[in-house]
Amino acid sequence: MEKEMPTIFSAKRTSFVRTSVIREILKLTVENSDMLSFAGGLPNPDLLPKDILSSIMESVVRDHSNTALQYGDSSGYEALRMQIAEKLTDVSWVSLNSISITHGSQQGLDILGKMFMDSDTNVLLEDPVYLGALQAFSPYQPKFFSVPMETDGPNLYLLEEILTQNKIHIFYANPSYQNPSTYTWSLEKRKQIASLLDEKEVILFEDEAYRYLDFEGKLYPSVSSFRERRDLTFVLGSFSKILSPGFRLGWTVVPKVYRSLFTAVKQGNDLNSNQFSQVVVSKLLEFMDWNGHLRSIQTFYAEKKEILVSLLKEYIPEAKFSRPEGGMFLWVEYPKVSQKELMEGCLASGVAMVPGSEFSPANRSSSNFRMNFSFLGNDEMEEGVKRIAKVYRDINT
Ligand SMILES: Cc1ncc(COP(=O)(O)O)c(C=O)c1O
Repeated sequence: MEKEMPTIFSAKRTSFVRTSVIREILKLTVENSDMLSFAGGLPNPDLLPKDILSSIMESVVRDHSNTALQYGDSSGYEALRMQIAEKLTDVSWVSLNSISITHGSQQGLDILGKMFMDSDTNVLLEDPVYLGALQAFSPYQPKFFSVPMETDGPNLYLLEEILTQNKIHIFYANPSYQNPSTYTWSLEKRKQIASLLDEKEVILFEDEAYRYLDFEGKLYPSVSSFRERRDLTFVLGSFSKILSPGFRLGWTVVPKVYRSLFTAVKQGNDLNSNQFSQVVVSKLLEFMDWNGHLRSIQTFYAEKKEILVSLLKEYIPEAKFSRPEGGMFLWVEYPKVSQKELMEGCLASGVAMVPGSEFSPANRSSSNFRMNFSFLGNDEMEEGVKRIAKVYRDINT
């Protein structure tokens, strides 16, 4: 899709800003209500306990408006930071003060880009990589390197080679149910890579946006929890996939030496995260059955994944994919078609998926597409897969 840039005046760095085809496709799906979209990473809003949420919001307005309707601490609402430190992180050194609440984990990525990246910063990415990270980092024009992903994490041989041949400053990684591939680093690779990063003194940005979406309720220890160099590791978390992206709340676990810098950069960005959302989410965590809620999300997504798997097997048996352990996507290879042709045919037939090139650090074309299974109803999913199958057959005959 075309990138429209201002022609009169803008900062040099804006020519490095990456647009997101996903957002463009989301726009198309909003404009065209017949469009069936496997494109977004949209959690299902029905999974939120709305009765509890309504009564909490009422009580926040009634009893906590002095806090909830006011500016707040730039590093976040203290009660919520405490809950995150206790419930939602596994690094042993975490404390109230190491948690900084952000406007979605996306803001954490933006702040880290601003804090660490210049044109001579070497940043290692997974290939494929989460597009939003590329969008956050690209304006600073760092030099990107990438390591190919296997179903159980980065290719270790190539990783070691890259780290040995280059001074890599930062590794951005999404080890659990990665977006887009849903590949998940094995326990063994987590340990080995943690010690390799310690040895080579590499800063890790560990993005754990999908950490709680294991279909069987399993919880992988973070890579950061195995690191000796706790001053070189940041962990980003998010409420978007476990509660709702509408709150726009995430967090970053920040090593002690970087805390005041992180907070100062955030102040320049937004002063503080949405205070009302923070108080509501804190009360939600206090009063809802958290473990029961996670279990219901995990079971729901597991069922939806199975439905998409069987639809693809039935209608497009040529499609290749590995079965994820969690998350909300299938990473599907459609052999013997050009990505562009399949993408255009699908959009013209009223069905959307995200082309793999969007997640390639080098913008390389690929025969993979990311398909979300958490949002469409089951009948819509079937209709959508039938539409893709027709386009696929028309191209191949
Ligand atoms: C891997 C990954 N990281 C970060 C984000 C940003 O999420 P949010 O800003 O909603 O917390 C997303 C959103 O889809 C994601 O997939």
